Amino acid sequence: MKTIFATDFHIHHGQRPEVNAFCDMIEDCPPDLTVLGGDIADRWQGTWKDILECPAWKRMQSMANQLYHRGYPIMWIPYNHDYGAKPEYLPGAEMVDRVIIDGWMLCHGWEFSLDWGLGPVDNVAYWMARNKPEWMIPFYHKFFKTPGQLVNYDARTYREKWHWKIETGHSIARMKAQETNLNVAVGHFHTRILEPDFFADAGHNVGSNSWLVIVDGKAALGGTP
Ligand SMILES: [Fe+2]
Repeated sequence: MKTIFATDFHIHHGQRPEVNAFCDMIEDCPPDLTVLGGDIADRWQGTWKDILECPAWKRMQSMANQLYHRGYPIMWIPYNHDYGAKPEYLPGAEMVDRVIIDGWMLCHGWEFSLDWGLGPVDNVAYWMARNKPEWMIPFYHKFFKTPGQLVNYDARTYREKWHWKIETGHSIARMKAQETNLNVAVGHFHTRILEPDFFADAGHNVGSNSWLVIVDGKAALGGTP
């Protein structure tokens, strides 16, 4: 049983070589299960109309559609920059909250993040994002790291730059692994890391590719970070 877990493409406009590379790989050699772990689109940087019309999203749609028709399952965990997503935006993919497979719990990871998943701030923020995006988007960019900035905290700098959001989120996810006796994999934090048989952050797919490959319960990081 082979599963590929890829997250955080943040598609909002234009062509994206990383999206093409990922979709080509999946289509050439489909795993038994493909899981898109959230932040596949980016509603902070574009409306769903922009996203659905852009070539990168159309490439993701064609890949999902092809897998579906070839009989390979694909699932989409539509958090947190995917807010407002509808199943018809990615036909062929099944929308789910999380996936448990081969001893791993695959999540987006925002639910472990102190600034989003654990407090009432997320309810307020999501109401504003849906109803008053002209307020929410500037607010977000003033007070929070944008996905583009978080990309700097990848495997190359992870040991040199402590970041409260990443470290606390990863720690809460590790606690979830202990509590559930499952290995936990997240995206969201954009910080590629693997602690075998315990915890993983699959990284991101903005400017490069990163994903988690799980074969019969054993995980490895893949891509070209
Ligand atoms: Fe992200």
